Formats: sequence, C-alpha cells, structure tokens
Amino acid sequence: MGTVLVVSGHPSERSFTNAWAEASCEAARMAGHEVLRSDLCAMGFDAVERAAHYGASGGGVFDPLKAQEAAGQAGELPLDVAGEVAKVQAADRIILHFPIWWFAPPAVIKGWCDRVLVQGVLHAVDQRFDAGMCRDTSVLFCVSTGASEAECGPDGKEGDLALQLWPLAQTFRYLGMRVLAPKTVHGVHGYHEGDAETALRAKLGQLIAAQTDVIAAWDTQPQITFNSDGDFDDAGRLKPGVPSYSAFVRHP
Ligand SMILES: Cc1cc2nc3c(=O)[nH]c(=O)nc-3n(C[C@H](O)[C@H](O)[C@H](O)COP(=O)(O)O)c2cc1C
Repeated sequence: MGTVLVVSGHPSERSFTNAWAEASCEAARMAGHEVLRSDLCAMGFDAVERAAHYGASGGGVFDPLKAQEAAGQAGELPLDVAGEVAKVQAADRIILHFPIWWFAPPAVIKGWCDRVLVQGVLHAVDQRFDAGMCRDTSVLFCVSTGASEAECGPDGKEGDLALQLWPLAQTFRYLGMRVLAPKTVHGVHGYHEGDAETALRAKLGQLIAAQTDVIAAWDTQPQITFNSDGDFDDAGRLKPGVPSYSAFVRHP
C-alpha cells in the first residue's frame, strides 16, 4: 500500500470541502494506505512567499526561485515548507480538495504551490514535464463550485471549469506527476431552501460515500492528457500536426 497526502484549502472545518477531504482520509486509511493530512487553513499556512521566510533583512533584491533553491540545498527551508515538501516526497498519491473561488482555486492552494513546490528540490530546469522529479506520483483534484454544472461547461456562463483548473493541473504535470481527471460537484452553496436543500445534502452525502470507490479505482481513473516533450520544437512551440489537448496549448 502507498502513502496518500490529502490537502484541503477551506477556512471552515465544517465546510463540505473539509468533510470531503476527511472522507478521502478515511477511505485511504480503510484501503490500507498511510495518510498524511494538510488542512492548510487550520494549519495557518502562510500562502504568501516573501523574503522574511528566508531570514532576509530586505536589503537586497529578493529572488524567490534562488532563495528556495539555496535554502533547499542547504537544508534550511522554512519549517512549514520543509514539512510540506516532506509530505509531497513521501506521497505516491496526492488529493487536493478545494472550492472554486473567483474562477480559480483559493489563494491558499495557489500559495501552497508557490512556496512548497521548491525549485531545486521538487523540480529543476532539466527535470520537469516528461523528466519531472515526481513521475511516480499522481494527483487528483476534488472540486466544488457554487455554479451549476451547465454554467461550468465549455459553453457555460461561468466559463469552462476544465480551463479554470488547467493551470493547477499543469503545475503538477510540470513536476512530472500524472494528473487524474478531477472529481467535481456543482451547485454547492448555502442558499438552497426546502427540497433543493434536501436534494443537495443527499447529493453531497452520496459523494462522500463514493470516495471509497475513488480510492479503490485510483489506478484506472481517467487522466488529463498533456502534450509530451517531443511534441514541442526547440523553441518550445507545439510542432505542426501534433494534437492539442487544451486551449492553453494550441495551434495558433
Ligand atoms: C470568495 C468566493 C468566490 C467564489 N467564486 C466562485 C466562482 O468563481 N465560481 C463558482 O462556481 N462558485 C464560486 N463561489 C462559491 C463556492 O465555490 C461554493 O460556495 C463552494 O464550492 C461550496 O463549497 P464549501 O461548502 O466547501 O464552501 C465562491 C465563493 C466564495 C466564498
């Protein structure tokens, strides 16, 4: 059995997001995995990268990549980051639970990536994408939206949720990870009343119960397809004739 890291980004312990994350933990434990947990808001995780994390007095120009790399190589990463890096390195499966806030993951999830996915430790210029350092790891996003399924579709008024999640997916692809197709639930908000509220509770209850199946079927879950390194020319542009898998990387 492996090690599953469950990360969540929501300020309320009683949110659906954190209930779903706890269901992931429980399902992974029941399946015999070791579980590592990062409830980022409960931990008070500081999502803003800054010089002060590295003991810099502010005299020179703060170069975050160089600061991360130097601290990583010296074994002097900020303690909160070192703890999270160790979890990422230990995990062969990572599950990120978060709501969509303003058409993107909440800032604490982005900030966790900014600070924890350390240059020189989890990626390097010659170890990224197909040659990424985390090729034995896979990642799944479990995402809720307030908007309806129709509104989050490719022609939806809120914009395509798959595109809203693509930069985060590409972040883990950059590290070499396999990115599973996200699990999504829509219309999650506290303004439902009467039958609509009852139906939502039932839907969320089913989703939480189904997390056991998600863990059990992990290896056969569909994945997001990305272009391989060989699909790009020396300048880093998509070669003519190769497929495009996302509007983010397409033929002009
Ligand atoms: C600051 C903020 C911004 C939000 N932006 C969006 C959005 O862009 N799209 C959307 O569908 N829902 C949006 N929502 C609604 C949340 O996604 C929804 O309430 C959440 O997924 C419910 O899960 P929870 O019970 O775990 O909070 C937003 C909520 C907040 C608090």
